[in-house]
Amino acid sequence: MPPTLDHPASDRLVIVMVGLPARGKTYTARKLSRYLRWQGRAARVFNVGNYRRERLGAQQPADFFDPTNPEGVAARRAMAEAALKDMLGWLQAGGEVGLYDATNSTKARRRWVRETCEAAGCRVLFVESVCDDPAVLDHTIRETKLRSPDYRDVDPDQAVADFKRRIAMYERAYEPVDEPDASWVRIIDAGRQLQVHRLTGYLPSRIVPFLMNLHLSPRRIWLTRHGESLFNVQDRIGGNAGLTARGRAYGRALKQFFDRQNVPDLVVWTSTLRRTRETAAELGRSFRPWKPLDEIDAGVYDGWTYAEVRDQAPEEFAERGADKLRYRYPRGESYLDVLQRLDPVLIELERQRRPVLVIAHNAVIRSLYAYFADESAEQVPQIDIPLNTLIELTPRAYGSAETRHTLIP
Ligand code: F6P
Repeated sequence: MPPTLDHPASDRLVIVMVGLPARGKTYTARKLSRYLRWQGRAARVFNVGNYRRERLGAQQPADFFDPTNPEGVAARRAMAEAALKDMLGWLQAGGEVGLYDATNSTKARRRWVRETCEAAGCRVLFVESVCDDPAVLDHTIRETKLRSPDYRDVDPDQAVADFKRRIAMYERAYEPVDEPDASWVRIIDAGRQLQVHRLTGYLPSRIVPFLMNLHLSPRRIWLTRHGESLFNVQDRIGGNAGLTARGRAYGRALKQFFDRQNVPDLVVWTSTLRRTRETAAELGRSFRPWKPLDEIDAGVYDGWTYAEVRDQAPEEFAERGADKLRYRYPRGESYLDVLQRLDPVLIELERQRRPVLVIAHNAVIRSLYAYFADESAEQVPQIDIPLNTLIELTPRAYGSAETRHTLIP
């Protein structure tokens, strides 16, 4: 698949995760990959543990991870090599950001990874996760490791004990990242502190604010389009129309829903356009109108019906149909433009610990939803977001759980 954006080849980046087991490396790598894919970059995680599970079987005893056990060391090294080779092959074939997910816990291992990647023409950024907070570690072990195939059908307490033995094996050989000439980011205690060393370039710099705002606190996010507007009924694009009676009924249905949910601390964001503000007004709560949440700007076609565009500007209509993601309305926006301007909204959504309701528009909700559903930018314009439907998302360690509520017929 061709990359979505144009980047020089030198932009190929390898993000090398570093850290003891249960430090959230896979969580962070997957989130980063999701974020980068959402931005339109070809990003992919290569998890060395998955190679081990696939090739050697999932259930290895803790001794397998003993740094003084030569068979275990050789087997793990072979898996690391296989994953690295596949990742570099994928990058040569057009990938942009490879995330190399393993403990990479010794300097020797990191030197080998870095030299191999640089020899293949890729830049390397280490992202180390350090955490000694027993409560966070316990949470991570129970949330992720107990669900892993490594411990399928194993008694949970026994599994935790075995995993802690595995961690102890790695601790014996662990060397924190302090390579003076390398680029690295160290995340301390799940985001409480971030250290950044020798970070240069646009892409690595964009990753930092994202990492700074990740947290593990459970909360819910709701996404919805505004209630039906006068333009929706006429099948008109854009504009700044108010709601129909049905649209206001949807606002009232939202109010009933949230009153039943008992979420007094709900944060409500809307766009600056009438139809989202009128929907939010029905809730009887304060809300924040936000310009980046405005609908895709249809430029010279704002206010036209789809049929008018098709009949009076057939070439534009066909061009948009052929590549809806990249097509930019004359004097307006493309979906890629919308994704870019939503970046601060996404970072704020990640940062929020309170429940959030976003009331916005078709193209904007498609774009935000894609991030939570792990859809790439390519998919965004095709995602189905019907009117009168509230999407409830509960971010989990890996991905999000989703429920759709149709509030009015
Ligand atoms: O039709 C409602 C609407 O919100 C328009 O204002 C907007 O241009 C459109 O949806 C976006 O959807 P699509 O990209 O499929 O035209």
